[in-house]
Amino acid sequence: MIQLDNVTLEYGKSTRVLNNVSFQLESGSFHFLTGPSGAGKTSIFKLMYMDLLPSEGNITLFGRNTKTLDRDEISMMRRKMGLVFQDSNLLPHLSVRENVALPLSLHGPLKDEQTKCVNEILDWVGLSHRLNACPSTLSGGEKQRAAIARAVVSRPRFLIADEPTGNVDDEMARRIMYLFAELNKHGTTVLIATHDASILKAFPYPRLYLRGGNVIKKVPEQTVKRTA
Ligand SMILES: Nc1ncnc2c1ncn2[C@@H]1O[C@H](COP(=O)(O)OP(=O)(O)OP(=O)(O)O)[C@@H](O)[C@H]1O
Ligand SMILES: [Mg+2]
Repeated sequence: MIQLDNVTLEYGKSTRVLNNVSFQLESGSFHFLTGPSGAGKTSIFKLMYMDLLPSEGNITLFGRNTKTLDRDEISMMRRKMGLVFQDSNLLPHLSVRENVALPLSLHGPLKDEQTKCVNEILDWVGLSHRLNACPSTLSGGEKQRAAIARAVVSRPRFLIADEPTGNVDDEMARRIMYLFAELNKHGTTVLIATHDASILKAFPYPRLYLRGGNVIKKVPEQTVKRTA
């Protein structure tokens, strides 16, 4: 479970972005995070990824208060998370395949089944023909798809994706959403920031709507039923 308790975030004395935000994501849940541009969605992800700490209030991640963690503990927590940034954040000196394999190759060479998994995910996001390409030669949508493949390859406990379908066509957006839904069926807690109205309509998961520094939870009438 991931929990925010009365979280306030200020970037400077006069810029309060989040104001007393509280919500929780139960283990194995799937939520969208929506709200106007500048509302603070990316800021919430940065807090969850521990790039930032709350100015006031607390965030509990895997049972730990993010304010109490040292550097090693933060690295350990991050290894349980998959994240897709708004900008894809691929390592420029590694190929597409190496970028995607990175979360699995931290402890040594890949086992056969891990290599198979990397190839399958790259195939699913339509990048089989760009395996050895360098990130700087990819289109915006291809970079985004490689970043998504990297985020899901290690089957993280918690997946956060910031506008993951912003640069891809509708059909690919659906494929990516099915990938996230599949991961969720196997137990991953998922939080996706999106403005994409067709995705919100097609996948009626509960929404956390962020406006004026606060979060309102909305549950669509036809909420997706979990089968797992
Ligand atoms: N490092 C920073 N220093 C100062 N202000 C910042 C910083 N990062 C973000 N902000 C401000 O905080 C507010 C929230 O930004 P954030 O990126 O979280 O919004 P968002 O909801 O993700 O927007 P978008 O939908 O455009 O991605 C914005 O007004 C932004 O200008
Ligand atoms: Mg953002």
